[in-house]
Amino acid sequence: MKSSDPVILAIESSCDETSAAILIGTVVKSNIIATQKIHEKYGGVVPELASRAHQQNIVPVVQQAISEAGITAQDISVVACTQGPGLMGALQVGVSYSKSLSMALGVPLILVNHMQSHVLAHFISREGEEKDYKKPEFPFLCLTVSGGHTQIVLVNSPTEMKVVGSTIDDAAGEAFDKASKVLGLEYPGGPQIDRISQKGNATRFSFTIPVTPELSYSFSGLKTSLLYLVRDEKLKNPLFVEENIEDICASYQATIVKYLLKKFNLAIEKYQPKSIALAGGVSANSHLRYEFEKLGNEKGVTCFIPPIEFTTDNAAMIGATAYFLFEKGQFSELSDPPLARLSID
Ligand code: KG4
Ligand code: ZN
Repeated sequence: MKSSDPVILAIESSCDETSAAILIGTVVKSNIIATQKIHEKYGGVVPELASRAHQQNIVPVVQQAISEAGITAQDISVVACTQGPGLMGALQVGVSYSKSLSMALGVPLILVNHMQSHVLAHFISREGEEKDYKKPEFPFLCLTVSGGHTQIVLVNSPTEMKVVGSTIDDAAGEAFDKASKVLGLEYPGGPQIDRISQKGNATRFSFTIPVTPELSYSFSGLKTSLLYLVRDEKLKNPLFVEENIEDICASYQATIVKYLLKKFNLAIEKYQPKSIALAGGVSANSHLRYEFEKLGNEKGVTCFIPPIEFTTDNAAMIGATAYFLFEKGQFSELSDPPLARLSID
């Protein structure tokens, strides 16, 4: 941490987490995350309800981030916020609030790309760990797996990234979330399936690994094959799901992880990186984390797996991204709009 490092207030509101963080440089001082529970009963994020909940949460979440960091609003030197991709109404809350605050405080505004931020979560430093915190060296290859995206990213620098592989339909997170709906589990499905799988036999049921060109993914067929399995087996035994939930979850999860890493392995062979990294909400998955590290060891590459708190949506990763943009003098204009669709290359 340098004395010239900016005090960054970062805000994330692209989906169903309202989050605010204070960073000095890349060192996180506070990272408050309000997860919106309202969506649970609908089995997925309801955009209008997400916008309303962001409106309710944003002021107290920012106030808590400022007070937990032990600073005052006057100490803030830059306001950063997610510009996109995400739900338009949800993004609008964060972006409008950030613009107003940057005007009121007379400090610059930096709007950042959410997917770039998931990758740069690897550069967040925790207090006291700044010196020995090992970070990926450029260029590296990142597997970003979230609720809305599945991307293999060639990361040349914090601000130069290229998506070299992505999904043609559902994201890996959706494959978890939609499966949990089929199985009658709560939203979001990823953490439930992860937990239930711990006691399951992953070889009990077989799901066909999708066949897709080169470095592309497709997850919609996987969910459908689960749907058909459940439909057919329930005709024979109405309690099929209840009696076999652990094995179903473990088998389904193992298929997703195998498929994710099969393609990522092809990317490693193609790009020969020295380091590989995992990012996004699905990188919280215990089986994926285990298998990713195993793959790294087999390939002889240095493997970076984010701390759990920086896998799912959080404002600290937005702040870390803003730091790199700040260093390059890349500020935003008050006229810059939120963008529901935004690529990183
Ligand atoms: O990155 P994220 O918080 O939001 C987006 O940018 O989309 O990712 C959310 C996704 C959800 O689909 C959720 O089910 C999944 O991450 N997820 C998990 C786990 N924890 C969260 N998927 C599998 N295993 C987990 N432990
Ligand atoms: Zn995300």
